[in-house]
Amino acid sequence: MKEQIEKIMAELSELKCQTEKEVEEARVRFLGKKGEITALFDEFRTIAPDLKREFGQRLNSLKKEAQTRIDALKASAKSTTVSADSAGDVTMPGDPYELGSRHPVSIAREEIVSIFRKFGYDVAEGPEIEDDYHVFEALNFPPNHPARDMQDTFFVSVGHPNPLLLRTHTSSVQVRTMEKMQPPIRVVCPGRVFRNEAISARAHCIFHQVEGLYIDENVTFADLKQAILLFAREMFGADTQIRMRPSYFPFTEPSAEVDVSCNICKGKGCNICKGTGWLEILGCGMVDPNVLEASGIDSKKYSGFAFGMGVERIAMLKWQVNDLRHYFENDMRFLSEFSSAVNV
Ligand code: DAH
Repeated sequence: MKEQIEKIMAELSELKCQTEKEVEEARVRFLGKKGEITALFDEFRTIAPDLKREFGQRLNSLKKEAQTRIDALKASAKSTTVSADSAGDVTMPGDPYELGSRHPVSIAREEIVSIFRKFGYDVAEGPEIEDDYHVFEALNFPPNHPARDMQDTFFVSVGHPNPLLLRTHTSSVQVRTMEKMQPPIRVVCPGRVFRNEAISARAHCIFHQVEGLYIDENVTFADLKQAILLFAREMFGADTQIRMRPSYFPFTEPSAEVDVSCNICKGKGCNICKGTGWLEILGCGMVDPNVLEASGIDSKKYSGFAFGMGVERIAMLKWQVNDLRHYFENDMRFLSEFSSAVNV
């Protein structure tokens, strides 16, 4: 028996297999029900009791060795099979990468911007970390206006006469544009804004706005109304109606808020428009002469209008999304619904 064990040991160390099939044959030959090692175990039952301990150990280590060897051969046969296969068909197409889709906020922002581009507006951008002057003071906010309150604004530096802060609206880009350019000015200013708000279905501390500014000689409220009406029809459909309600903003006089007719119930009243038939989309007005003068534009010669809208809000109305938080959670089930939305 000793010789047989040694012989099998030697054979195992010499054993070579190319394919998985050959490995399986070797396994059956040594370890199968009628295999050589199994046969030695049968024989083991008949040997003298005083030799059992020694041969038991030898047999066990032989079996272990055989199993290890066969496992190793199996692993290498598998990897050679794979590489042989893939080398064999070099014409196989690769695995396609799954393409992502554009974010609905990007789609809406670009749609808004491209509508105004068609009307002849340029695009202007400004910094997200702004100073108090450009966000508030140059826009005619009285010194104690509540929007300067710590509750609304994230301040970056305090105790400075012109503290740095995260801009709370993109109206600051109006100011920067007027500082750099003389009329005629026609710009839209898309960007991210920040407010110290509790996050809910209707509010978020980070969101996006598009600001608009039009300054020239003899610009009137009628021009403003026409620009907003054309925009609303491009964005929400040709049969869209608008209505303007008087409002207040420090930087415009007169000021208005604009509603569009509900594109879901066509003005009849539904739960999206809360039964009113109207949805609020933006704030606007004629630029206050104080604002023009503060940035070096002659308010006797020029007049203009401005407007500002929330991109998430426009996107919510356009695609009937009922919770603002969806836009920030990166849930693929939500985002992939926009993979077929195309831009104008
Ligand atoms: N800045 C305003 C806001 O964030 C929106 C706005 C209203 C912008 C009226 C304007 C405007 O330019 O004329 O709520």
